[in-house]
Amino acid sequence: MGKTSRAAIGAIATGFATVLLVTTATSTAADGTAPGAPGLGDPYYPGQGNGGYDVAHYDIRLTYHPGTDRLAGTTTILATTTQELSSFNLDFGLAVRSVRVDNRPARFAKDADDPSELVVTPRRPLAEGEPVTVAVSYADVPSEVALDGFTAWKRTATGALAVDEPHIAEWWFPANDHPTDKATFDVSVEVPDDVAALSNGSLVRKSKQRAGWTRWSWRSTQPQTTYLAFLAIGDYEVRQSTTPDGQPFITAYDPALGASLPAAKASIERSPEVVEVLAEYFGPYPFEAQGGIATTGLGFALENQTRSVYDAAFFRAGANLSVVAHESAHQWFGDSVALGRWSDIWLNEGFASYAEFLWSEHEGEGTADELAQYLYDSVPADDPFWQMLPGDPGADNQFHAAVYDRGALAVHALRKTVGDETFFRILRSWLAEKKGGHGTIEEFVALAERLSGQRLDELFDVWLFTPGKPATGPNGAGAR
Ligand code: ARG
Ligand code: ZN
Repeated sequence: MGKTSRAAIGAIATGFATVLLVTTATSTAADGTAPGAPGLGDPYYPGQGNGGYDVAHYDIRLTYHPGTDRLAGTTTILATTTQELSSFNLDFGLAVRSVRVDNRPARFAKDADDPSELVVTPRRPLAEGEPVTVAVSYADVPSEVALDGFTAWKRTATGALAVDEPHIAEWWFPANDHPTDKATFDVSVEVPDDVAALSNGSLVRKSKQRAGWTRWSWRSTQPQTTYLAFLAIGDYEVRQSTTPDGQPFITAYDPALGASLPAAKASIERSPEVVEVLAEYFGPYPFEAQGGIATTGLGFALENQTRSVYDAAFFRAGANLSVVAHESAHQWFGDSVALGRWSDIWLNEGFASYAEFLWSEHEGEGTADELAQYLYDSVPADDPFWQMLPGDPGADNQFHAAVYDRGALAVHALRKTVGDETFFRILRSWLAEKKGGHGTIEEFVALAERLSGQRLDELFDVWLFTPGKPATGPNGAGAR
């Protein structure tokens, strides 16, 4: 790809046209005065991600003290430049102690207008298409670091949670924080002996180096987006076993769940079974490990790669396999195939919500037809619900119920229009073609049209992009 123009590289690397503008505007100088763009031009979060390089691997090595919430250590980033760089940005909000680029001390400064942008200026400009090693050392108290007026880092009774969407990296590791730049991860965290430090993938080692402290080292070997990298520290009951397929299956339970603890276990311990069922619809499970974590004080569930994290609230009324099906489906829709832009959130939530229908049908608790029809019928046409557009809900409404529920109805409407055989072929082709990468709604629609041989623009317009309750229900002509 060395001879490709820089604008083309920007477009290929990120898959959307807005980037082209950002990248061309800053990559013209041949004299080494070209700074990397401070953002990738995402329609919802223009400043997220950075131009001029591609990350291949994050090595995050930290020490965390629950008593003080002090987090300190070094993240080493292995990247490749995609343009000549006089300087480049990392998305990061904590206080930095030093930065080295290819072993030489580099200048660094927080952008005066945006404390989540760390600007790194190497001694000498970096050439295009070269590997680069960036080591960032830092120490801070993440719960006290406000970015955009808040901190997504959560302290708990016995530890902390770095679990959030769309952004969490800024509060614990420097990153190219956009779903289009995936990387592999090593996460190694030293914590007091009486707490656990949990993250993605496999537990490579649990080791002691000094009295009172234990280091937990995790490795996630498949391309992973930055917001899906997580840290959960606390007094967890950790369980390690293997799935029938021989994958590590690691779960953890916060004892503070109290009366909800058995229901959480009765749900999360069945994750491999749920994954097996979903794999029959979606194709092979895309990752090397599985698991799940039940915690308190999160307020939502998140599909962290290989190991979703669930708030206790989901299990208050008993076992909840529906939420396990939802988060497990995200391992395909969202994790393996990431969003090209945050405005494509329907590709995550519409399909994960639809997986709840598939699980229900599998369990004999109601067919997808029945659930879709009931949902459609039970929300009156004048309800504001129908004004929200799943295809472009806006940054403030990415997790609005309409993205999930109307989003799932859109998926069902597609199924009824093209028929079961073609529908599941579309899903499996999408997941196979985009595995480890990312995609946009437009690309999904194009694939669906190609495989069905039908024009589907009107269907998707009505369900994703037009305000108001669709006149025809999700089951098509037969709708009541
Ligand atoms: N993707 C998550 C789910 O649907 C939702 C995350 C919501 N994020 C938040 N900060 N509330 O499972
Ligand atoms: Zn979801």
